[in-house]
Amino acid sequence: MSNPLRRPMIAGNWKMYHDLAASVTLAKALAAGTPENGPEVVIATPATALTVVAAAIKGSKVKLAAQNCHWEKEGAFTGEVSASQIKDAGCSAVVLGHSERRQYFGETDETVKKKLTSALAAGLLPIVCVGETLAEREDNRTFKVLDTQLTGALSGFGPSQLASVVVAYEPVWAIGTGKTATPAQAQEAHLYIRKTCARLHGEAFAAGLRILYGGSVKPDNIDALMSEPDLDGALVGGASLKADSFLRIINFKAPARA
Ligand code: 13P
Repeated sequence: MSNPLRRPMIAGNWKMYHDLAASVTLAKALAAGTPENGPEVVIATPATALTVVAAAIKGSKVKLAAQNCHWEKEGAFTGEVSASQIKDAGCSAVVLGHSERRQYFGETDETVKKKLTSALAAGLLPIVCVGETLAEREDNRTFKVLDTQLTGALSGFGPSQLASVVVAYEPVWAIGTGKTATPAQAQEAHLYIRKTCARLHGEAFAAGLRILYGGSVKPDNIDALMSEPDLDGALVGGASLKADSFLRIINFKAPARA
């Protein structure tokens, strides 16, 4: 964490967890516990909980995200929700290209790009996820995979169009496994992502780009992760489902920004 231009962001991805009552209880606890001058805090709830959580966090520092959206504004797309619909439900952000969507629901770099276009058009802050599988890492293809995913999602836009975009580096082998990337491994990948984005959209864009780390982030490893210069926050799964652990992550301790 080194560039004062990049306000840290801590985002919680609730995935397919919590009923409405538990969602509201958790959202209210986070709204009450999120500090005034801390990182930007975002929670990505299941689609069914968006409106009740929006009401629960109203007037607080916590922002609401969806975990996905469709690229069309409306139409005959059974089971899908559009960027403008999630905005209407109270979202200001959306997670795109999560590895679980790539793995289980046929998400591709091409669909991520289409969704990014619609999210930007709706005025949402997109959190674009990238990351390699264990097989890809062991085969020394991590950088190649990151390059392909970043180029696939982010090329074809001007840097000013992408000003709100946040990238999340989520190595698939670290998600839900309890096997966190070491701070050094995360930093290496984040630096590569930043350099790739500099090549795509220029140094100024890359210097201001927030890059989150995701993959078994917990209260006991967030401080070390946030000490790395190119880590600007975290995208948290399991540890975002309980108020005490997520609030500890929000209140991470890291050296002051240079
Ligand atoms: P875990 O924190 O449970 O590993 O999940 C990470 C993740 O996928 C966040 O999007």
